[in-house]
Parts: sequence; structure tokens; C-alpha cells
Amino acid sequence: MSHSEPTGTSRRRFITTAAATAGLAATTSMVPLRLARAMKAPIKIGILLPYSGTYAMLGNSITDAMKLRIEQAGGMLGGRPVEYVAIDSEMSVPKAPQNTNKLVNKDKVDFLVGPVHSGIAQAMAKIVGGKGSTIMVVPNAGSNLVTGPLCAPNVFRTSFSNWQPSYLGGKVMADEGHKTCVTMTWKYAAGLQMMAAGKDAFEANGGKVIKSIEVPFPDVEFQAHISEIAALKPDAVYAFFSGGGAIKFVKDFAAAGLKDSIALYGPGFLTEGVSGAQGDAAEGVKTTLHYSTDLDNPANMAFKAAYQKAYGKPPNVFAVQGYDTGSLLLQAAAAVGGDVGATNDVIDAMSSATFADSPRGFWKMSKAHNPIQDIYLREVRGGEHHNLGVVSKALEDPATGCRMTS
Ligand code: BEZ
Repeated sequence: MSHSEPTGTSRRRFITTAAATAGLAATTSMVPLRLARAMKAPIKIGILLPYSGTYAMLGNSITDAMKLRIEQAGGMLGGRPVEYVAIDSEMSVPKAPQNTNKLVNKDKVDFLVGPVHSGIAQAMAKIVGGKGSTIMVVPNAGSNLVTGPLCAPNVFRTSFSNWQPSYLGGKVMADEGHKTCVTMTWKYAAGLQMMAAGKDAFEANGGKVIKSIEVPFPDVEFQAHISEIAALKPDAVYAFFSGGGAIKFVKDFAAAGLKDSIALYGPGFLTEGVSGAQGDAAEGVKTTLHYSTDLDNPANMAFKAAYQKAYGKPPNVFAVQGYDTGSLLLQAAAAVGGDVGATNDVIDAMSSATFADSPRGFWKMSKAHNPIQDIYLREVRGGEHHNLGVVSKALEDPATGCRMTS
């Protein structure tokens, strides 16, 4: 019996005695053991994205491309396997706190990827920002607040701020000679911030917004508003809708006969991922965005081929943002050798991450953790986006109100 393991009370006393005898040496020798065990456990990625409703296509594109990127790297992060825990956000702001708390406190995810919707992003950032060890990565929602007053060391974005593509869109409308404009959007943070940015640039460059129309999200009853636009006869309309709502708006606009008399512009979400479904109605619509499908850099070529092969359809900007989210997680996990519990080191790695192989072209993180990136002007021709050129090189969001504490 001399080599048998102590049991019950005697085992507890053994541990106490042994630890007391060996002191610090025992404590430090147990740490690598614990770490070694932890390093074999999966890294948990919590996902809060829409898989139903008008933004379902966006959520699916992000998820598919993020998984594709991680699979391309062998399906591991920093040498550890990956476990995904996904929740359908249902685009519900009221449900956002409960969904976020479940992923952070119950599932104890290492990374929290989401959302698509700016209102949900603001709710999530208030819960996660500056607290705990979970790192939040926003793969779409452009809320200016998330990398503005709500910015935090553990909150990153791989997509855009609502200001970035929209300010440039307003400038393009003025540069193309339009003098009057009606803006139209869903009435929530994303659309309101995008229309405000477009209006600022349009009016700073000599234009005048004569009417701002706001529709409850995610309503698609556009007819009465389109009739009002017809009566106002502006030179241009500047609109934010996305996903299913964008298909309906662009089709209704054309069906009302406005397409040939009023130029339609918007931040790129108006036609992104839906230009095929919009058909002839989208022909000639001009938008500004941080991606254009026809970018001829080698990374974009390879990405488009791999996505098409994996999912049987072409990618879109939402997929690019998911893909770059995967790249960010890979870079961060590699930098800490898989020890993603080393929160400060993970944050350092993510803050200094660069994306030389992004399908959108080179970009890097700003101090506020938002992409510094090129903005392209695109036009839909034959159902596809055609890049008309870079309208702003390495554009950084002003990050108004961001006071990053580290
Ligand atoms: C947003 O809510 O931030 C958003 C949603 C869809 C497309 C772009 C932005």
C-alpha cells in the first residue's frame, strides 16, 4: 500500500502538506501543467449574428467566410481547436443584452464575434467594453459610437464605421454635379449615421438635402415615400437599406419610373450581395464602399475562387469582413501561442494587426480599433459591381469621443 494514492480527507491533507512543504516551487510547477491542459482545450468563438429576417444573408456570409479562413489555416487558432457557439440575433436590440450575457458569462467565450446591426453593437459594447477577458470583434455593424465614445481596448472592428463609406458617397454626388438630394433610410443608428455623413459631405460641397425620409426598421412599405420623392423631383436620392429591404427598395424605385430621371446613390450596402436579385432595377446605381468584387489583387482572386468553391456562390463585402475577422483571430492567437487568456497580449496583437492579404486591399487598425482602408466608387453594370476607382485612400474614421485607456 505504500505507493497507493491517498483518498478523501487524507488526500486533501496530502495536498495541503505537500504544497506547504514545497512552497512556491510546487505552485510554479503546477502552472505549466494547468496551462498545458488549457492549451489543448478549444478556443471558444461566440457568434451573435442574424440568421433570419432581412439581414440573414449578411449573417450567413460573415459566418461562412470566417469559418473558411480558419479552415484554410488548418482549422486551429494558435495550435488549439476551435468551438463555435452561435446565436441568431434576430436583429433584436431588446434581446441583445441577454444574448451577449449568455455568450460571455454562461458559455464563457474567448472571442465574441458580432453583430450586423448598429443598435445591437452599441448594446453589446456597453456590456463587454473595458470589462472581463472576452474580446469583441464587430464583423459588420458600423455604429460610429462603437469606435467613438464606446471604444474600448477589448473591442475591435473589421468592417467600417458608418461615417466612412457614407461621407464619401455625399461628396461623390456633389462632385457629379447634383445640387438637390432626398435621403431615405431605415430609422435606426446605422441609417441615421450614414445619412448624416452623406448630407454633411453633400452640403459641404455645394449641394442641398431637401428632405430626409426615415422608415421604421425593418419595414418595406416604400410606395408612399417614393411617390413623395417623385413629387419633390430632386437631382439625386441617397439611400441606406441592406439585404432583403435593399432588394425591395431598389426595385420599387425603378418600378415607380424614377430610375431614369433621378440618380440613385447610397453607401454600398444598397446593392451589395443583392445586385443580382435587384436585376435591371440596379443598373447604373452608384455606391461607395470599402470593397468591390472586381478588385484585381491576388488575394481577392484567391478569396473569390475559394468562397465560390466552398459555398457555390460568389462572395460579397460581408463575406470579406468575416474572412478578415478570421485573419484577425488567427494573427492574435498565433501571437500568444494559443494562450488567448493572456488578454493584454491578445489586445496588443490585435491593435497592431495588419491585413496585407485582405480581398479589399491592404488595411490596418486605427488607434480606435477601426479599419483604416480605401473607399471605392462602384457602379452596377450587368448585375455586377464595377470599380470606378478609389475615392479615398487609407481613410480613417474621426473616432470622435474615443478615449482609449490603453
Ligand atoms: C448596421 O446596422 O450597422 C448595418 C447593417 C447592414 C449593413 C450595414 C450596416
